[in-house]
Amino acid sequence: MKPLLEKAFDPEDFRREGHKLVDLLTSYLESCRQKAQMPVLPPSDPETMAGFWKNDLLNPGFELQSFYSTLIAQSNHIHHPRYMGHQVVPPAPLSALTELLEALLNNGMAIYEMGPAATAIERVVLQWLAQRLGMPDAADGVLTSGGSAGNLTALLAARQAVCGHNIWEEGNQDHAPLAIMVSDEAHYSMARAARIMGWGEKGVVKVPVNDRMQLDAGKLKEALHDAKARGLQVIALVGNACSTSTGSYDPLNEMADFAQENNLWFHVDGAHGGAAALTNKYSHLTKGIEKADSVVIDFHKMMLAPALTTAVLFKNGAHSYETFAQKAAYLLASGAQKPWYDSAGRTLECTKKMLGVKVYAMIKLYGDQLFSDYVESAYDLGQEFFNLLSLQSDFEPALKPDGNIVCFRFKPEGFNGNLCVLNAEIRKKILNDAGFYVVQTQILGQVYLRVTLMNPFTEINDLNDLLLLIRELGNGILETANA
Ligand SMILES: Cc1ncc(COP(=O)(O)O)c(C=O)c1O
Repeated sequence: MKPLLEKAFDPEDFRREGHKLVDLLTSYLESCRQKAQMPVLPPSDPETMAGFWKNDLLNPGFELQSFYSTLIAQSNHIHHPRYMGHQVVPPAPLSALTELLEALLNNGMAIYEMGPAATAIERVVLQWLAQRLGMPDAADGVLTSGGSAGNLTALLAARQAVCGHNIWEEGNQDHAPLAIMVSDEAHYSMARAARIMGWGEKGVVKVPVNDRMQLDAGKLKEALHDAKARGLQVIALVGNACSTSTGSYDPLNEMADFAQENNLWFHVDGAHGGAAALTNKYSHLTKGIEKADSVVIDFHKMMLAPALTTAVLFKNGAHSYETFAQKAAYLLASGAQKPWYDSAGRTLECTKKMLGVKVYAMIKLYGDQLFSDYVESAYDLGQEFFNLLSLQSDFEPALKPDGNIVCFRFKPEGFNGNLCVLNAEIRKKILNDAGFYVVQTQILGQVYLRVTLMNPFTEINDLNDLLLLIRELGNGILETANA
């Protein structure tokens, strides 16, 4: 054995460094949880950051623990309750520990023989979720690496099931151009999936939204009629549960009925908010999800898992076998009987991580209640923040939130300048200050600040402090402009 290989696989090194890393991460988690005064994201711009790591690579000295500390310092602090920007969950720490196990076991999961326990666990996790969503016993699906891959997987199945011929084998035939129908607010992965399938921009038929940014079900008939008049064959209707920008839930129940009446596949993008179905308090938002032909839910958003694990569920499980009806003789069994346990036949991935294991461990450790407690407290805080905003004369919520995504803007009384410029400027200053992380979005062409309340330790006091900061920054900008 060459000495370097001997060293790279030394179990004692692993034990020693592993213990130290767990200690380091424990202290990090403690400071985040105690809301230590610290920037919640690193101050560097991309070029400086790239320069730092380029130099670091050239530097001969290296000490693993100091590398870990530097990496933590230069990363976003998702576990800090004042990080409230994008839809990234602070993973439940033990799920990250389980992921360490997965990484080391590294059972690839393309076929059963490559990852026996993980394959079975994936099935158990999917059946658990399908049952919680109220889907029929025949439901089946796959875990995949992220919601974008999940949405593509579901829409590929929709295309195969609805377009009228075996498009997977035969390619595009002489039929009308295919399209999906989505709300104006759908995640961009929908448009991307349509383009990947070769349908271009016209393959996405947009249905207008109402003033709560939910798909306007009253406009469905007209949108479908217009699409047909333009020569399109609409194969699927997609519902948001919820939308990315404003967290609005589409009227899934009505949409499911419309899809059924018009022979459309009904897909629900529940990447962010599908987990509301697991609660008592907010499951009304997902009413109708159980009727969907396919559903996507990210465990790494509202279900406390580290990125990435996405469930793609099909009401008729047989559809999950048709999506990628491709032969790979060396890998996949041939013949009509398709085994559930060779997942490469049903996912984009060949090698796939042991995606279900961390979810399984959380279900066993904490039970369903964990997910419902988490979603309910995050959504409750969204409502509380909306109430707080509504009491301020110089703030304006964009809309009443359905869940934990809240959009608002600073709108000082008597100000008749450009609110978009003012709020974009405020956000830049919040980024420089780095005590909070918030993002911005556009709603009906207007710039709004946007928070996603993913951290169970964020409290209304933090949000109150955020408003104080925004007020101070906003007034400072106006004073400078008037000076
Ligand atoms: C509604 C919705 N769908 C899909 C996605 C894409 O999911 P992922 O980031 O896991 O690819 C997102 C991500 O923010 C989302 O909000």
